[in-house]
Amino acid sequence: IRRIGVLTSGGDAPGMNAVIRAVVRTAAAHGISVLGIRRGYSGLINGDIIELAARSVDGISRKGGTMLYTARCKEMLTEEGLQKAADTCKYLGIDGLICVGGDGTFRGALALSRLGVPCIGIPGTIDNDIGCSEYTIGFDTACNTALDCIDKLRDTMQSHERCSVVEVMGRHAGHLALNVGCACGATAILLPEREIDFETDVIEKMRMGRIKGRNHHIIIVAEGYGSAQVVADRIHDATGIDTRLTILGHIQRGGSPTSQDRVMGTRMGYAAVIALEEGKSKRVVALRSGSVIDIDIEEALSQTKDLNQCLFEAQTTVAI
Ligand code: F6P
Repeated sequence: IRRIGVLTSGGDAPGMNAVIRAVVRTAAAHGISVLGIRRGYSGLINGDIIELAARSVDGISRKGGTMLYTARCKEMLTEEGLQKAADTCKYLGIDGLICVGGDGTFRGALALSRLGVPCIGIPGTIDNDIGCSEYTIGFDTACNTALDCIDKLRDTMQSHERCSVVEVMGRHAGHLALNVGCACGATAILLPEREIDFETDVIEKMRMGRIKGRNHHIIIVAEGYGSAQVVADRIHDATGIDTRLTILGHIQRGGSPTSQDRVMGTRMGYAAVIALEEGKSKRVVALRSGSVIDIDIEEALSQTKDLNQCLFEAQTTVAI
């Protein structure tokens, strides 16, 4: 292969720049040129493309976001848009495409592969909700960013003897909320994947905490669980504790990537280029038992990921 393309699509995630750097530098070492597709698949449809030489990715690993911009491209769901994207690849002599993102990104890569464009997906999302991979780029940074915010919230909650209800991102998945809740020592974590008895697991726990001298609480609510405002109101009505709601929102997607996200971005970016060089197509790079492997995209899309049960139990069965 002589030329490949790289794009980032869907929600951005810290570490995407490390992937881009690894793709460009690995390709350069193998005599392959790289085109950067801007704004995800819409860059392919609209021809928004730049050349990426080894020097053009200097120092990007430590930066949050993605230097290629990102988008959720509705046109890729139409036959016309898809064909335009495939035609651009053929016209530009793109022998392989690396697509960084989540499930939606992989569906685009699958469709393009079927039209003859060899594609390799890389899991990049703060949600860590890709079934085939134990890790998705951006998750560790997002956990640490949320944790940093919650540590600050705890200071003021403790001073005022309040309860802080914190909504954490994750779309339909609770991985981010569970990890963050565990790391910050939350009184309760509300997740879409696990039903709880609100009265026993939240209210009673808080009452018990008060008896035992706990003067403040952090309650983590995954965005997929339901309204965090309703949770805050219920807590206030049932306990009388002064309660404040904080929605962390997009702050969780920003910031300089942690070493884990830079390293994983590098490993996965490297693996994707090697996969293309070996003539592979329609694959997703994934982390399994600590190793970076690749699997068929269709198989990847059919897999789901449950919460880490050990973590869930370790967090929910501790005494207040
Ligand atoms: O998938 C990443 C994510 O940040 C989710 O956690 C969240 O639900 C969603 O993207 C937000 O999307 P947008 O940036 O389009 O508002």
